[in-house]
Amino acid sequence: MHLLVFPSEKAAAAALARQIADRLKAKPDLVLGLPTGRTPIPLYRELVALHRCGEADFSRAATFNLDEFVGVGPEHPGSYRHFMQQHLFAHINLPPERIGFMNGLAANADAECARYEGTIRDAGGIDVMLLGIGTNGHIGFNEPARELQARSHRVTLHGTTRRANASLFGNDPSRVPLAALSMGMATILDAREIVLLAMGKSKARCVERVVSGPLTTRVPASFLQLHRRVALVLDRPAASSLSS
Ligand code: PGA
Repeated sequence: MHLLVFPSEKAAAAALARQIADRLKAKPDLVLGLPTGRTPIPLYRELVALHRCGEADFSRAATFNLDEFVGVGPEHPGSYRHFMQQHLFAHINLPPERIGFMNGLAANADAECARYEGTIRDAGGIDVMLLGIGTNGHIGFNEPARELQARSHRVTLHGTTRRANASLFGNDPSRVPLAALSMGMATILDAREIVLLAMGKSKARCVERVVSGPLTTRVPASFLQLHRRVALVLDRPAASSLSS
């Protein structure tokens, strides 16, 4: 794993945004995998700024988001689709038809997950998969468990995860959907390159387990050790449990 430690969250976001802009120049039809959460917000802000000054052209790019809640549509203020619109898509020139998202309102979750896997394949696979990480080591909605799912699937959300997402639903955990759709571990590991972002002291312990711990379904992100091209983009507090 390639470790990149930055003096601040902003410095990390700026450097990563610059790298993505460079990738877009080299490969204008770049396929990006995207996360939601607090962590990528500064990165999205930097990408929007680069786009505004003509440095990041998304006109031929495509994106696939990691996950979505079941039972909320794209216009719902709690949906991840809405989050992405607000923080990134509304401010860049990515054509709407190249925004890949799981449909939280799909009547048949299995069919929707199979459709999503198919659209990723049809796009030629994901070039760069950006990930956040939960303090418990989850990626997407692949939560610690006795077994993990390989492909996109429906997940019943833990109470802790629903509480962690309450801010999207008027700070009321009971309004957070009971289930979500998520890319699976193999969907993530199929990407040609993976960049995991982790910021702040609260992520230090899980970062240490991802880098140095055994492969275990109890820390889903530990499986990133199997991938040949993984970069961890960290600020100093998130890197503080790593032995230098
Ligand atoms: P965060 O969430 O970016 O809000 O810390 C990351 C995650 O839980 O995957």
